[in-house]
Amino acid sequence: MPKRPKISIVGAGNVGATAAHWAAAKELGDIVLVDVVDGIPQGKGLDLLESGPVELFDAKITGTNSYEPTADSDVVIITAGIARKPGMSRDDLLMTNAGIVRQVTEQIAKYSPNAVLIIVSNPLDVMCQVALKASKFPKHRVVGMAGVLDTARYRTFLAEAINVSVEDIQALVLGGHGDTMVPLVSYTTVSGIPITQLIDKDKLDKIVQRARDGGIEIVNYLKTGSAYYAPSAAAVQMAESIIKDKKRLLPCAAYLEGEFGINDVYCGVPVVLGASGVERIIQVHLTLDEKAALQKSADAVRVQVAKLPA
Ligand code: APR
Repeated sequence: MPKRPKISIVGAGNVGATAAHWAAAKELGDIVLVDVVDGIPQGKGLDLLESGPVELFDAKITGTNSYEPTADSDVVIITAGIARKPGMSRDDLLMTNAGIVRQVTEQIAKYSPNAVLIIVSNPLDVMCQVALKASKFPKHRVVGMAGVLDTARYRTFLAEAINVSVEDIQALVLGGHGDTMVPLVSYTTVSGIPITQLIDKDKLDKIVQRARDGGIEIVNYLKTGSAYYAPSAAAVQMAESIIKDKKRLLPCAAYLEGEFGINDVYCGVPVVLGASGVERIIQVHLTLDEKAALQKSADAVRVQVAKLPA
């Protein structure tokens, strides 16, 4: 009998606990929530488990402070770390989160040597690189969540502006998860209709900028932390594509070795996500401006990576 898929989520804070919620509601498999703080993963895990009879999902949900219960996970979502507060950029989290991500990844890799890791901790692209190194996994099994979230924000604002369903808006946002992200207007359509036929340039430019600033907009509202509903939903969409081998084509942070002319750095690109993780990177045609913007974005990630201790 095939066993249920197993998803571990490291960090049982806002993003981690909400990811567990989405994953349970979608009945993706058994869930293990891990956190350093005693009682938090246990309490949230048990509370979520007790929603099963109401929401009608069958999943074993375990909360723990140790890594043994994560053994043989199929997918691990890493959200451990500190979140932004007003006035902080994602890069301000660099040193603290690098230490945390390194340590939790080593533990995860020890107990789940065959897992696919989905990194969520920020600054995202740099944390992917930290996790790749700490896990010693092949690059296709360490992927970062950013593009799905950035694209979701962009799609939300477009749907609102055009007054059509979010379901019908397709878009690609590439590049690093930060100010240099690259929303691709040329690949934005509404059920196949180029976006430029449905909205004027001024409005579109404003939406592109709002998507770029989507994270800080939420931080400024919340004041004590950063976004978590959309980030966790995005991470779980990626987990679902891996667990069910759906082969969805999603913008994700992948390790580039020559694709788009970029080398040895994580950056958001269109990928096919299946059972083995990043199965393919799709090298879409970019305009010269888009190419330059993507290169600039990758360079910004590289500058941050260089600050890490060897
Ligand atoms: N091991 C396990 N868990 C840890 C560790 C560690 N070494 N260090 C911190 N944590 C846990 C914290 O105890 C906390 O419960 O990570 C959790 C982080 O939760 P929040 O503070 O609520 O932050 P959250 O909003 O979930 O964001 C987490 O995701 O989107 C990114 O920028 C965000 O880097 C941040 C991360």
